[in-house]
Parts: sequence; structure tokens; C-alpha cells
Amino acid sequence: MIMAMAGSAVGLGNIWRFPYMVGEHGGAAFIIVYIICCLVVSLPIFFAEATIGKATRKDTFGAMKEVSPSGRFKEMGFIAIASSFIILSFYSVVGGWSFDYLIRSCAGAFSGKSIAEAREVFAGMSSSPTESVSCMLVFLSLTAGIVAAGVDKGIGLFSKVSMPVLLVMMVVIAVVSLTLPGSGEGVTYLIKPDFSKLDGPAIAAALGQSFFSLSLGIGTILTYASYMREDESVIEAGAWTAFFDTGFALIAGFAIMPAVFAAGIEPSAGPSLVFETLPVIFSHMGYVLPVVFFLAILIAALSSSISLLEVIVAWLVEQKNLSRPKASFLVFLFAGILGAACAVVPKVFNTCDFVSSNVLMMAGALIFAIIIGWVMPREQVLTHIKSRFLYGLIRYAAPVMIVAVAVTNLL
Ligand code: PHE
Repeated sequence: MIMAMAGSAVGLGNIWRFPYMVGEHGGAAFIIVYIICCLVVSLPIFFAEATIGKATRKDTFGAMKEVSPSGRFKEMGFIAIASSFIILSFYSVVGGWSFDYLIRSCAGAFSGKSIAEAREVFAGMSSSPTESVSCMLVFLSLTAGIVAAGVDKGIGLFSKVSMPVLLVMMVVIAVVSLTLPGSGEGVTYLIKPDFSKLDGPAIAAALGQSFFSLSLGIGTILTYASYMREDESVIEAGAWTAFFDTGFALIAGFAIMPAVFAAGIEPSAGPSLVFETLPVIFSHMGYVLPVVFFLAILIAALSSSISLLEVIVAWLVEQKNLSRPKASFLVFLFAGILGAACAVVPKVFNTCDFVSSNVLMMAGALIFAIIIGWVMPREQVLTHIKSRFLYGLIRYAAPVMIVAVAVTNLL
């Protein structure tokens, strides 16, 4: 389950947002703030969410019902399930693009192309409803297939095999990238500390990114923790997940930014970095590197999307008594519909992204902190969390920080 949690955490957020944010917000100065945010707020929220899952051994909805006999938090279970569904839908669109680009790079489609030509390829692919919807459906069916295979034989096995492979692939890309002439500037961009760039929005960005990156606030960690063995500790699970996630984000930074600078290109975040700049740069280094890069992105995206789908499937299996394969198929169908809307209408995509990361995840994290800090009996919580200091962070510091960041983001 620890591997599966790490798999959920390591995803597109690490590859296309983290490296850019680091460079934008002051290099090493941002990394320090990011790590402090992780330690003071995000990890305590992780422990809170995982404790709810491990203590109740239920899906998100069932757990919310159980922690508040009066049913006060029942709706929160639904919000978490809805958020997972929304994120799954737009995440699958990007997963589909990765699949599309893996096939293209296998066919050597980027060799000899300029960035302007690559831009046209991306615009053509993402605006073609047939292509983007069909690739999204392929990605979603892979996700549903893994989840339908079961928690151990699907999710567990996939995570155990894919995480080490993913790590090796990223390290190889980083080594190649760091040995390019001119890559030093990219390293400077990532590590030169510039404390003058650390303003309120930068701190809010660090916290928001660490929430998204650790998959918090929407029930994924809760659901996975409900499958943990009794002797596995939520503290250990959180520490490993955060270590793996942050380490991977840094390696991704060193795989990506030095190559971008070596090619003399201005760095950017999001789709343009991954689908326009990098395929061209990597294809200068031979046929294999773009294939490895898109395979890595596809694996990272899949190990996150299975955790999103599992939140919904666990609810359908435990509360609605559906079989796992039937539940997986049903979610595939509905997420396919919203995913198609996200693939075809950019406004739907952006709204889903904004609402889920800025509103729903924050709300979820706040509720989990309140449940652990103020609703569940202190003694029961301490058997899982073990430290009064951590308990204090969940009870006081985390909620205050979350509200402050949510307000900063929405203003
Ligand atoms: N943590 C994943 C990433 O970094 C995204 C994610 C968010 C996955 C929420 C599951 C739940 O890409």
C-alpha cells in the first residue's frame, strides 16, 4: 500500500508543474518553503486522512458516516467521491495525450521537427475530437482494467512493478540531460535561492502544489489506508510517500530544466513544456529518449488515475454492493463522458481543474483535519498518530493554513 500511495502521489503534477514552479518562485528558496509546507501542513493532513481510513476500514463515504454518527459529515464523503470523479475525467485527457505521444515517438514522429512544428502537432492532436477522445478512452480503459483486477492483483502489483521502473527511467533522462552542453543554466534556475520571490502567492502555490502532489483531500489516501495491514503505520506510509514524491519531483526537475536551457528555450509549465518543447529536445538525442520519456509520463499518470478510480469503485463496491469489475466499468462509462467533454471543450477542462484543486481538495483537507482534530476521540487518534505534537499540528496549524491559502487562491 505504501508503494501504491507513492504511485498515487507521483504523477503529472511532479513532471509538468513542480519544476516550473521552482524556477518561477525563487529556486532553492521555493524548495525550502515547499518542504516546510509538506512537513507542517500536508504531511499532518496525510496522517489525518490515512488515520480515518485505517481506523474505519471503510470507503470514503462509509468512513465519513462512521466518524460522525449524527451523519454530519456524510455529504463530505460525496464531495470527495465527486472530486475524484472530476479529477479522473480531466486527468484522463492528459493521460490520453501521453499515450498518443508514446505511439508517435515509437514511430519517430519528432525527429527533425522544430518546436514550431511540434506546436502544430500538439494543436492538431488536442483539437481533434476523434483522436483526443479515443486516446482518453484507451487511457481510461487501462485504468479501469487495473482497478478491476483487484486491490492486490491490480493496484498493488502495478504499483510495485511500475514505481521502481519509473524511477530508473527518470534518473536516466536526468543523467542525459545534465550532461548536455549548456545545461548548467538549468541547474542554476532550479537551485539558485532567490528569497525576494517568496511572496504570499508563492507560499500559497507551494502549499497547493504539495496538496495536489500528495493526492490529499479527496479520499484517495483514505481509501488506500483502509487496505493497510494492521501492523503498517500511517506515519511510515506518509513519510515514505512524501519522501518519494518530493524526491521524484526534484529528479524530474533535473531531467527537464537542464535540457530546456541547453536548447536555449524559455521554460514554461503545463502541456506546452511536456508536449511541445521536450519531445523535440529529446528527439535530438536519439530515438529512444522520447519513447522512455512518454512511457514514464504514461506510467506516472496511470499510477495516479488508478487511485482516483479506486475511491469511486470502493464506494460502489462497499455501499452499493456492485462487483468490482462492474463498478470499474460503470465509472469508466461516466468518466468517459465527462472526459470527452474535457477533451473537446477547453473551458470544461479548465473549470474541472480549477474547481477540484482550488476548492474541493482544500475543503476536503479541512474536513479531514477537523474530524481528526476535533471529532474523533483523542485517544483513538493517538494510537495511530502517536505524537501529541502532530496532533496539535492537525488540530490547529493545518486548518488555519488551509483557510489562509484558500482565501489567497480565490482572491
Ligand atoms: N498526485 C497526483 C499528481 O501529482 C495527482 C492526484 C491528485 C492523484 C489527487 C490522485 C488524487 O499528479
